[in-house]
Amino acid sequence: MPDHIATAEANANFALVKYWGKRDDQRNLPAVGSISLTVTGLCTRTTVCFREDLDTDILQMEGVAVRDHRLYRVTRFLDMIRERSGRSAAAKIDTSNNFPTGAGLASSASGFAALALASCHASGLSLTESQLSELARRGSGSAARSMFGGYVEMHRGNAPDGSDAVAEQLFGPDHWPLVVMVVVTDTGPKSMGSTRAMELSRDTSPFYRSWVAGQSQDLVSARQAIRDRDFELLADISEHSCLKMHGVMMASRPPVLYWNAVTNTLVHCIRELRTSGVPVFFTIDAGPQVKVVTVPAYRDRVHAAVRSIPGVRQVLETKPGPGARIVEAE
Ligand code: PMV
Repeated sequence: MPDHIATAEANANFALVKYWGKRDDQRNLPAVGSISLTVTGLCTRTTVCFREDLDTDILQMEGVAVRDHRLYRVTRFLDMIRERSGRSAAAKIDTSNNFPTGAGLASSASGFAALALASCHASGLSLTESQLSELARRGSGSAARSMFGGYVEMHRGNAPDGSDAVAEQLFGPDHWPLVVMVVVTDTGPKSMGSTRAMELSRDTSPFYRSWVAGQSQDLVSARQAIRDRDFELLADISEHSCLKMHGVMMASRPPVLYWNAVTNTLVHCIRELRTSGVPVFFTIDAGPQVKVVTVPAYRDRVHAAVRSIPGVRQVLETKPGPGARIVEAE
């Protein structure tokens, strides 16, 4: 394969201890560290080809040319690659997801992790995993975590240039074979992008400072829960982190409200199941879908319970999976 084209795949990840808030908007530096699980089943495949005959970048998503703010974001990202690699050519970027598009699941994490890896390879830039993670973070904070498989920690870092705001793997995917179900409750576009919502939280939410202050303790508990495969502890800390993050959002002005009625019903359903002895917990990101975590022995029972809730549109099952990788183009 010539060195100006490369294809990469990256999986989505779900945060167990959430990232919410930036300490530097320009460099996209997080105000807090986070811990996540990279999963199979929600994967982005991206091919980047630098071409001397192009005047501007061309972006194709699922085979369709895209010319809106998404192209602008990709071009800004590729400008960093061009600057670092000394390559000036524009690029054609082909990207597709293996999950239903328009289902409100589009993930900037898998997208920017795949773009970072493919564009580095295509431009001949040779970076360490940590440097790749830093680069992916410039596209989207959660993308830094999708560079790695399994259980991953993203460090807040202290360096003003962001060189230590990188992710690292805590444990591989086989360490703890949890089951994660993505329960789709709405297929429309999300009400507000995470960048704008994070700004609002930082600038207006009365709970923002205590959210940031409490993060180190949550990270300590989650690390311990994952290391010891302590489901109860992980359930407790993950739901706490999720609800705290949404509390910060809801108290912003104007409020950031991602939940719908079905999201709310699912939260109660999962908590009742856990009270009845089923090892299960939920987590929710910047949208109305609910991610439900359980263990393989309870998969069918949990699946049946969430499926029975009116308004649930789809349940996608995932499990711990690998990090971003270079693949052969088809
Ligand atoms: O990476 P971004 O900018 O899309 O932000 C992601 C924020 C949450 O998904 C809500 C939480 C997280 O840690 O992934």
